[in-house]
Amino acid sequence: MNNMSETIKHLFEEVAPALSNPHGKITIVGVGQVGMACAYSVLQQNIANEIALVDVVPDKLKGEMMDLQHGLAFTRHCTVKADTDYSITAGSKLCVITAGCRQREGETRLSLVQRNVEIFKGIVPQLVKYSPDTLLMVVSNPVDVLTYVTWKLSGLPKERVFGSGTNLDSARFRFLLSEKLKIAPSSCHGWIVGEHGDSSVAVWSGVNVAGVTLSNVNPNLGDEKKDDEHWETEIHKKVVDSAYEIIKLKGYTSWAIGLSVATICQGILRNSRNVFALSTNVKGHHGITEDVYLSLPCVVGLNGLTHIVKQDLNEKEINQLQKSAEQLLEVQNSLKL
Ligand SMILES: NC(=O)c1ccc[n+]([C@@H]2O[C@H](COP(=O)([O-])OP(=O)(O)OC[C@H]3O[C@@H](n4cnc5c(N)ncnc54)[C@H](O)[C@@H]3O)[C@@H](O)[C@H]2O)c1
Repeated sequence: MNNMSETIKHLFEEVAPALSNPHGKITIVGVGQVGMACAYSVLQQNIANEIALVDVVPDKLKGEMMDLQHGLAFTRHCTVKADTDYSITAGSKLCVITAGCRQREGETRLSLVQRNVEIFKGIVPQLVKYSPDTLLMVVSNPVDVLTYVTWKLSGLPKERVFGSGTNLDSARFRFLLSEKLKIAPSSCHGWIVGEHGDSSVAVWSGVNVAGVTLSNVNPNLGDEKKDDEHWETEIHKKVVDSAYEIIKLKGYTSWAIGLSVATICQGILRNSRNVFALSTNVKGHHGITEDVYLSLPCVVGLNGLTHIVKQDLNEKEINQLQKSAEQLLEVQNSLKL
C-alpha cells in the first residue's frame, strides 16, 4: 500500500484535491437478471457517471461489479461500485429498485406482493437516508402496488417516486403493431396504460401512424367482438401474455426491461422532458378518487415526474382504467405496511 502511494507521489504533482461528481449517480438495488440488464444498458448508453449496485448476496454482487468494471475501458467515463452497505449509494440522483422475488411460472404479478413488501421495508428507508434528494424508480413486481408502497415508506413527495409501469408494455405493443403494419416500432405510436399486468389498457383510440388514427380507418379496432381483424387478441393480448411466455421459455425477462429503464434514466438525468408511460399516483385522473398507482403518460425531468398527459380516452378505456384501479386498491388495502 505504501509502495503504491510512493508511485503515485512520483507520478503526479497534486495541484488540488480531486472531487467526486455525484450529479449523475444512479443506484441499482438488486443485481439479478433485471438489475444487471438495467445496469448494463445504463453503462452502454453513457447515462450515468457513477453506478452503485446493492444486493444482499455479497459474492454475486462482487462478481457483477467486477464484470462491469472490466468493460469500463470500452465506455465513456463511469465508475461502478458495489456493496451490501447502503452507504455507497450516498448522493444518488436516482435509485432504481429491482430487488425482490420474481414471478414463478404461471404466477401473477399481484400474488408476489406481500413477499416483496417485506423486502422493500429494508430497502426504501436506507436509500432515502443516504440520498434524501433522490428520485426513486420501482421496477420490482407488482410494480404499481410496490410504487405505492415505496411512496408510503419513503415519505417523499409524489413527483419523486414512480414506477417503470407500462413503459415496457407500450414498447411491446409498438413492436407487435410494427410487425403487423410492417413499419419500424419507433414509427408506431400507441400507449398501454393502467396496470403493468393482466388488466392493462390498450389505448386503441389513440393508436396512430404519422398522425393517421387507426380507429378512423377501422372503427372496430380493438373491439374483441366486432373486429374481424383481431387487433385486440393478436396484439394487446399478446402484450399481456408476453412476460408469461418469456418466463416459460427462458425463466425471466431482462433485456427489454433493461433498455426501457435505461431510457427513462436518460430522460431524467439529461432533463430531456420525454414522455413515458410510468406508474404514478392517478388520484384525480379519469375519475379515480383514491391514492392508487397506475401508468399514464408522464413527463419526466431532473426533478422527477412533472406532468401527466391528459389523454382523451373513450368511455370503454376509462371504465377499464377504473376497474384496474379498483383491483389495485383492493390489493393495497390488504397490505401490512
Ligand atoms: N416492471 C417490469 O416491467 C419488470 C420486468 C421484469 C421483471 N420485473 C421484476 O423485477 C424483479 C427482479 O426480477 P429478476 O428477474 O431480476 O429477479 P432475480 O431473482 O434475478 O433478482 C432479484 C435480486 O434481488 C436481490 N434481493 C433480494 N432481496 C433483496 C434485498 N432485501 N435487498 C437487496 N437485494 C435483494 C436478490 O439477491 C437478487 O439478486 C422481480 O420482482 C420481477 O418480477 C419487473
